[in-house]
Amino acid sequence: MLRILIITICACNVGTQRGTRPNGLISYSIPETRPLKKALGYYEDTYLNFTELSSKHGYHTEQHTVTTEDGYVLTVFRILSTCGIETGYPVLLMHGIFDTSDVWIVAGKQRGLGYLLAQNCYDVWTPNHRGNKYSRRHIKLNPDKDVKFWNYSFDEHGNFDLPAVIDYILAVTRRQKINYIGHSQGTTDFLAMASLRPKYNDKIQVSILLAPVAWMSNIVSPIPKLLSHVTQQLKIFLDSAGYSELLASHQLTHLILEYLCQVSSDDLCSATLAATTGYKSGIPGKTLAIAFGHLLSGSSSKSIAHFGQLIQSKRFQRYDEGSTGNILRYGRTTAPEYNVSRITAPVVLITGRNDWLSSLKDIATLTSKLPNLLENFVVPEPGWSHHNHVWGKLAPGLVFLKIFEYLRWLN
Ligand SMILES: *[C@@H]1O[C@H](CO)[C@@H](O)[C@H](O)[C@H]1NC(C)=O
Ligand SMILES: *[C@@H]1O[C@H](CO)[C@@H](O)[C@H](O)[C@H]1NC(C)=O
Ligand SMILES: *[C@@H]1O[C@H](CO)[C@@H](O)[C@H](O)[C@H]1NC(C)=O
Repeated sequence: MLRILIITICACNVGTQRGTRPNGLISYSIPETRPLKKALGYYEDTYLNFTELSSKHGYHTEQHTVTTEDGYVLTVFRILSTCGIETGYPVLLMHGIFDTSDVWIVAGKQRGLGYLLAQNCYDVWTPNHRGNKYSRRHIKLNPDKDVKFWNYSFDEHGNFDLPAVIDYILAVTRRQKINYIGHSQGTTDFLAMASLRPKYNDKIQVSILLAPVAWMSNIVSPIPKLLSHVTQQLKIFLDSAGYSELLASHQLTHLILEYLCQVSSDDLCSATLAATTGYKSGIPGKTLAIAFGHLLSGSSSKSIAHFGQLIQSKRFQRYDEGSTGNILRYGRTTAPEYNVSRITAPVVLITGRNDWLSSLKDIATLTSKLPNLLENFVVPEPGWSHHNHVWGKLAPGLVFLKIFEYLRWLN
């Protein structure tokens, strides 16, 4: 079973390879396929990028570039308040793994949280973490040539990407604080930042975490659980084979999933989501079809390996580099835990009863340790899963209302 899985993952990536580079990284990209998608009758929103989508739906956006301390060049989009004035502090929306800032708008005008915030007069900022399709740049390293570019996980998103983006937003807007909203790995990024760099807690008015991921020992999803036994070996294998970048938008797996979702979003696409996150229902077929044109926008083998370590170690800890690597990196033989008792910023958790990646048992561990937890809001729908928070038909009434309550109450 495992072997088949690994072969499938690799085979899908190999499909588009162009040849091995001298130092081991494989360059594989698919030419622009937009005319083909148009001809096949894809929903247009499937292949439009962030700027095109938001201007099509009548929103003004800006594109900003932020360089991190360690040289990664990130794209940060901003959706301007439609009110002419801005209410409260700026809102930072942080996407999850394999995702981009598109996640906040693909559900469209009525249900895209990015749009709804702008309509309610908020100044909305949506960064892209290092390595995804909008942030595949570095001042020195070449993502197509240098394996080192892919040496990151959510630890670096939290330690470097978020602080750089937050300082940038505060400088541009001349405000003292931001509101933080994260989804999935976007919540892990926050927890890593706020425990590794506690002075950033003072720059957060409130942090609202949708489908939070920290402790993972009670994960229900069988695929990550199964893979977690071998992620370390898998990482070594993938890195040495030149596949440190995984499931990117220019790779074949993305194109196949995107296609399947167009022809049969309710069956094949739902089944993919069901197998990985426990998804049951509640996301309109058209939204799923469009969303899968944007999902699978790339991550690193190390990101996957880090989550594998969380599952196996039953701890919320920094990346285990092996005892020698740990001494060099942390000054000790084992990987240190994230000290979440340092997270003094107010935190709201929004969780689901049927989320296979973010189980309520693991959430209980997190809630028992957070010193300034305002609420753990469990969405009162039995089938609520990982992506219902961002794309669900009922998300505006169940999740976004909660978000707006906190933003208004605190401002
Ligand atoms: C979005 O697409 C437009 C039109 O193709 C292009 O000019 C722009 O550079 C793209 N933006 C990003 C961030 O990829
Ligand atoms: C990756 O980065 C970490 C942290 O900076 C470092 O300790 C480690 O040695 C690096 N690994 C490689 C293979 O470059
Ligand atoms: C974790 O942080 C708290 C609060 O700053 C501190 O009192 C405690 O000693 C830290 N624990 C460890 C293991 O570093």
